[in-house]
Amino acid sequence: MTIPSHGRANFSTQANALLRKNLIFQRRNKRSNCCLVIFPVLLCILLSVLQRVIDNELSKEKFKCGCAQVIGKTECGIQYSTLDQASSCPIPNPQKWPALLQVPDPQSRAVRTNGFTFPDLPSKSCRLTGTCPVTVLVTGNNRTLGQGLASNLFSTSPVNTSNLLLSLANNVLGSASKPGTQNFLDPAYTSGLPLYFVQPLCLSSLSFSLPVDIVSSTLQQDVECAQGLSLWRNSSSDINHELYKGYRKGNPERKINEFVTAYDILNSDMNNFNVNIWYNTTYKNDTGFSRIALLRVLRSINMVSNAYLQRLFGASTKILLEFVKEMPKPGTRLRIDISSLLSAQFFTYVIIALFPVVLTALVYEKQQRLRIMMKMHGLGDGPYWTISYAYFLVLSVIYMTCFVIFGSVIGLKIFTTNDYSIQFVFYFIYINLQISMAFLVAPLFSNVLTARAVGYLLTFGTGLLGGFLFQNFIQDTSFPRGWIIVMELYPGFSLFRGLYELGQYSFLGDYMGTHGMRWENLGDSMNGMKEVMIIMFIEWLVVLPIAFYIDQVVSSGSGVKRTPLIFFRSLLRKSKSVSQKHSLQKQGSKVFVEMEKADVVQERERVEQLLSEQSSSISIICNNLRKIYSGRDGNPPKLAVKGMSLAVRRGECFGMLGPNGAGKTSFISMMIGLTKPTSGAAYVEGSDIRYQMNEIYTSMGVCPQHDLLWETLTGREHLIFYGRLKNLKGSALMQAVEESLKSVNLYHGGVGDKFAGKYSGGMKRRLSVAISLIGDPKVVYMDEPTHSMEEAEVLCDRIGIFVDGSLQCIGGPKQLKGRYGGSFVFTMTTSAEHDAEVETMVRGLSQNAQKIYHISGTQKFEIPKHEIQISDVFKAVENLKKRFTVQAWGLADTTLEDVFIKVALGAQSSDILS
Ligand SMILES: *[C@@H]1O[C@H](CO)[C@@H](O)[C@H](O)[C@H]1NC(C)=O
Ligand SMILES: *[C@@H]1O[C@H](CO)[C@@H](O)[C@H](O)[C@H]1NC(C)=O
Ligand SMILES: *[C@@H]1O[C@H](CO)[C@@H](O)[C@H](O)[C@H]1NC(C)=O
Ligand SMILES: *[C@@H]1O[C@H](CO)[C@@H](O)[C@H](O)[C@H]1NC(C)=O
Ligand SMILES: *[C@@H]1O[C@H](CO)[C@@H](O)[C@H](O)[C@H]1NC(C)=O
Repeated sequence: MTIPSHGRANFSTQANALLRKNLIFQRRNKRSNCCLVIFPVLLCILLSVLQRVIDNELSKEKFKCGCAQVIGKTECGIQYSTLDQASSCPIPNPQKWPALLQVPDPQSRAVRTNGFTFPDLPSKSCRLTGTCPVTVLVTGNNRTLGQGLASNLFSTSPVNTSNLLLSLANNVLGSASKPGTQNFLDPAYTSGLPLYFVQPLCLSSLSFSLPVDIVSSTLQQDVECAQGLSLWRNSSSDINHELYKGYRKGNPERKINEFVTAYDILNSDMNNFNVNIWYNTTYKNDTGFSRIALLRVLRSINMVSNAYLQRLFGASTKILLEFVKEMPKPGTRLRIDISSLLSAQFFTYVIIALFPVVLTALVYEKQQRLRIMMKMHGLGDGPYWTISYAYFLVLSVIYMTCFVIFGSVIGLKIFTTNDYSIQFVFYFIYINLQISMAFLVAPLFSNVLTARAVGYLLTFGTGLLGGFLFQNFIQDTSFPRGWIIVMELYPGFSLFRGLYELGQYSFLGDYMGTHGMRWENLGDSMNGMKEVMIIMFIEWLVVLPIAFYIDQVVSSGSGVKRTPLIFFRSLLRKSKSVSQKHSLQKQGSKVFVEMEKADVVQERERVEQLLSEQSSSISIICNNLRKIYSGRDGNPPKLAVKGMSLAVRRGECFGMLGPNGAGKTSFISMMIGLTKPTSGAAYVEGSDIRYQMNEIYTSMGVCPQHDLLWETLTGREHLIFYGRLKNLKGSALMQAVEESLKSVNLYHGGVGDKFAGKYSGGMKRRLSVAISLIGDPKVVYMDEPTHSMEEAEVLCDRIGIFVDGSLQCIGGPKQLKGRYGGSFVFTMTTSAEHDAEVETMVRGLSQNAQKIYHISGTQKFEIPKHEIQISDVFKAVENLKKRFTVQAWGLADTTLEDVFIKVALGAQSSDILS
């Protein structure tokens, strides 16, 4: 075997090999690529279509400020608009409205009932005529003062309709209608409900017109009289009690019994005025906000202030509350940005969809044991991690970039209005976290299908939970923020939260005609973006090292699935099992040393001698290598390899035969670094398998028992990849690959360029052999490259038969056959009645012949070689042929298979005896 001139592949060579392999693999993975591209594009297009439909609807006349032709010009404004249109008109000079008092409607006003026993309440009969008074309650420390104020609350003065606002300012006007969300148009004047002119005694009623520009009409308003009643109560707790019972649920008759308002003047005297006011915030339009009800509180404050002033300075002193007026507003267009509203949920799907892709790729290499295969051909963990991580990162970045660019081009506001740098930072942190998470959870899966199913389940589950559960928590301001942060520890929810915030800002920005989120907005009190970014960043810093650690310690080397728990458990167990192991070892060695055959003993001595003299012609030396599996679940510990000593010359082909479970795989596993020997040592090209496995990997080839191949890579691509790992470059690489394909007969007919997944079993086997040989490794291990004993006999320089954890014999095929064979097998087929004659003939040739097989007419005998001459056999058969017909006969030398069966059976029976 030639010693390769190319040295060890450095980091960048390995990285390059892996990267190219990944790119090809990704390109072939058509289905997931298609999904990755189509899914976001479809979503964006769907959103964009929805948006067009909505924009189209909103741009109709109905939602635009009304216009009209005035003296040849088009003029637009609130005066030309319907009520629907009015909300989009500019209102430079809002209407002045008389300040109203919120009064209960006539059937809900407080009366004397079973639950309300105060004698000063009006009797129930007023409800029949609809004339119940509206009632105010008063309390305070100074009863004289309080009752004095109470009597002044509902004073009236005459109404002069030509100066309506001023004269209404001197009176109390009430409405039972509910306040709206804005006060450009007070619902009291359009609701169709009457206004109430509240007086101490119902004397006059009136009706007036308010000149209002909206809908180019004047509002004509009927005003009814309502008696105002103010009642003294001894304490504020009395009032609380009475108000509470006014609620439908608070009184025994389950009837509403409402008061207008209530005052507690506390410790007020002639120098200080202190007052508490009760008012009912639940008065609100269902579509509105309760703070609007405050507009109707102004009048009740004004009432009590006036009553106090008049008490001090006489009836002519007044604070006039002339009108209330909304702030001016510019013209607006009704806009609803659907992408901002739906973004959180939709885009959560889009972005998490990368997670199953990464996870599946990682689990695939694990399931197919490709990771360990690559490692055995020299791919270090450093390049593997760096390239895999960088590869997925680049993939994600490209994906996200295309997504954002595509969304921006078709004009989705969530992309265009928010600061791109915020979006970049947010998405970048997230995809890093997502990839680390995939690395972290990949060891939990052993099957690609499970991983894919779980991945997609997570994707859709997170989107749904985010949209229908988590979003409600975010919007509910009373929900504790601490819990929201706890939920955001789950990366899917942090992603959702970030997208939600981006959506909110772009929605409001679009609605208000400003911009979306800027860096300075991160400080906004309700903006969760900052905390989400911090959480994700810290999580990434934590998750990545843990993922690396778990990969290194738990699953990397072995390729065998082990859960992290087992790692910790085995730590605990180690101390316990050590003493047990020692006693077992001693016992074991005594038994088998006595039984060892001469050739095995000789090999052991050769190893000891070679170890002392440092010979350079030796490639592999195993010195008393031993593997014990500690017993699990109550089973006793198992001795898999019982002290193996072996030396293999450079260029020698050594064959190892043994029945199933003999320990061959355990032995090879130790030699290729999958498991560590329990004791003993082995050196491959001078490197110790216990400590220098990474050195060994660079000059080692492995053809594992099961073909470890990427289904969607071609044979040639496999060879190129592994060739690169072995530091082959340029034309040398191409030449090596060509030769390799030719040598395993995968060259002709373009077989080398077909996917390995489409190969037959034999072709896969041949490809595996070619992989193990590429780059001229110094040592090649082949686990059952073929199943034929004849080939072993022809190809191997030396053969060792391995039974029950130890070598039974070792030597060249001829030597072994000579030693263990030593007999011919004679077969003859005649008609059944001549059986006895045939047997007599054989016994005549040799007394020690043994019949080993007999079935109607066909017999097989084993005849010791040294007792017969082949010519005698021919003569005897010729004689026999003269007497009756011999259908067939044969004389064969023993094969390696016969030797193997003999040795294996012999070892097992002696085992049973001992
Ligand atoms: C209560 O207020 C009146 C004025 O209305 C005052 O004359 C009287 O002294 C006050 N009483 C107490 C106990 O402060
Ligand atoms: C009503 O107000 C107008 C304008 O302020 C005034 O001219 C008129 O005299 C008033 N009428 C009465 C009856 O006070
Ligand atoms: C309020 O106080 C007055 C005098 O202190 C008392 O006569 C009256 O019964 C009290 N009213 C109630 C409802 O307790
Ligand atoms: C407050 O207003 C609501 C809505 O009109 C009404 O149902 C409720 O009974 C009122 N509460 C009181 C104490 O008057
Ligand atoms: C709430 O206000 C809207 C218009 O602002 C009106 O159409 C609706 O009838 C109001 N609802 C109630 C319960 O007053």
